[in-house]
Amino acid sequence: MVNPYIPYPVRIDEIKTETEDKSLKTFKFVFLNPEDEEKFAYRAGQFAELSIPGLGEIPIGIASSPVEKGFVKFTIFKTGKVTSYLHSMKEGDIMGIRGPLGNWYPWDLLEGKNVVIIGGGFAFTTLRSSIIYMLDPENRKKFKDIHVIYGARSPGMLLYKEELEQWAARDDLNMHITVDGTDDPEWKHHTGFVPTITEQEAPAGTEDTYAIVCGPPVMIKFTQPVLDKLGYTDDRIIMSLENRMKCGIGMCGRCNIGKEFVCKDGPVFTLRQLNQTPKEY
Ligand SMILES: Cc1cc2nc3c(=O)[nH]c(=O)nc-3n(C[C@H](O)[C@H](O)[C@H](O)COP(=O)(O)OP(=O)(O)OC[C@H]3O[C@@H](n4cnc5c(N)ncnc54)[C@H](O)[C@@H]3O)c2cc1C
Ligand code: FES
Repeated sequence: MVNPYIPYPVRIDEIKTETEDKSLKTFKFVFLNPEDEEKFAYRAGQFAELSIPGLGEIPIGIASSPVEKGFVKFTIFKTGKVTSYLHSMKEGDIMGIRGPLGNWYPWDLLEGKNVVIIGGGFAFTTLRSSIIYMLDPENRKKFKDIHVIYGARSPGMLLYKEELEQWAARDDLNMHITVDGTDDPEWKHHTGFVPTITEQEAPAGTEDTYAIVCGPPVMIKFTQPVLDKLGYTDDRIIMSLENRMKCGIGMCGRCNIGKEFVCKDGPVFTLRQLNQTPKEY
């Protein structure tokens, strides 16, 4: 039997600094054993434990998409022990990845529907995975209208800047990029908080329309009433939680909300499911 605690060895193939304050870097990893890439088959919305021997493991959402082959990507905010160490690592260094873990966005349910992606700050990682997945030529026809509303504090704090511009230029995706504020006279997208832009740009919440919302708690708090006003019922609002975790496989009890383990039953839940759990998330 495969030991679920043993990570796959990976090499850091590329490191890209994403934001002007250098707090966010995207790491592209290549599996040392090519067969491990097949074993790591994942869906958009899942996460993995990034493992540094002797230091620890951290749960991080998978930023690459299942349709991107030959590598996996994660975008990491430098905050404490493990993330700071990761930010000091170099291309060519070896470490471990354990996963894929958790559930994913409900792709079977979303097929044939309008999908509205709403993201803020660095919670945009698994949303990048989802957008690339939906825009893949094989998949785009499976979805109706796609809207993406994504905001950051300033233009320099946006993730995946080149891809954002490519998506904004497409006619099969309604891209709404926003920043809290900027003095850049060249800025050609929105200015304003994500909930405000959602109110202005998101389509009405019909039976055929689902919203996926990922962002800092304050963004979620003010976006929920907007979606409510637009007619989105709580079973059509999908969220991903980032609770503290340890094992990532439902064994240690570190991450539970009520009887749900966020690592195993989540991290993706509908607002309806969350409304039925104690307010511990
Ligand atoms: C499912 C999931 C997906 C995630 N995806 C991403 C991602 O794509 N990119 C990313 O940068 N981070 C992500 N996180 C958060 C990430 O796991 C934490 O930032 C990381 O564990 C901190 O590790 P550390 O050793 O550097 O910090 P520590 O030394 O453990 O702590 C430093 C600081 O980080 C805070 N912290 C620790 N764990 C968490 C946590 N789980 N959530 C929020 N704050 C925490 C602590 O309160 C403390 O202030 C995700 C978390 C989960 C559960
Ligand atoms: S992290 Fe161990 S049970 Fe969820």
